[in-house]
Amino acid sequence: MCLNFHTNSAEETISLGTKIGNLLKPGDIIAMQGTLAAGKTTITKGIAQALGITEDITSPTFCLISEYEGKMPLYHMDVYRLEGGEDFIDLGVEDLIYGKGVSIIEWSEKVMEELPKKTIILKLEAVEGTTERNITITNWPHGEIN
Ligand SMILES: Nc1ncnc2c1ncn2[C@@H]1O[C@H](COP(=O)(O)OP(=O)(O)O)[C@@H](O)[C@H]1O
Ligand SMILES: [Mg+2]
Repeated sequence: MCLNFHTNSAEETISLGTKIGNLLKPGDIIAMQGTLAAGKTTITKGIAQALGITEDITSPTFCLISEYEGKMPLYHMDVYRLEGGEDFIDLGVEDLIYGKGVSIIEWSEKVMEELPKKTIILKLEAVEGTTERNITITNWPHGEIN
């Protein structure tokens, strides 16, 4: 299933993230695509809220992987600094992405070849000069998002 959304503020993107998060199941993997400041970390904040995570979600650009405890674990990764798929596997991510938590990968364009077929793809595009974002979700297995 392919779904498309528009948001006009960070708050709207967080609220969409919450709706997405409410539908996620253990083992789901979300590959986030989109340039710097597209809203990847912002939408992750909403997803984390839905998972019952109260800790503040910060960008994992420097630590690469942050783990949060909620209804199920959230593994929040940012692979911007990696060369490619081999580095990704060397980090030991297989235990996480094939585990019982939800995995979110920012800058996933770099490591797509290492992600399973069932991976959900969430793409954010900023409309230049505005706060509008086009958000497309493909390979979504959980029905309508209302
Ligand atoms: N509609 C919107 N959705 C998400 N973020 C927005 C929106 N409009 C403005 N912003 C701002 O854009 C920035 C997005 O940053 P962030 O989520 O860290 O991006 P990324 O993780 O993709 O680099 C934030 O400063 C946020 O407040
Ligand atoms: Mg980010």
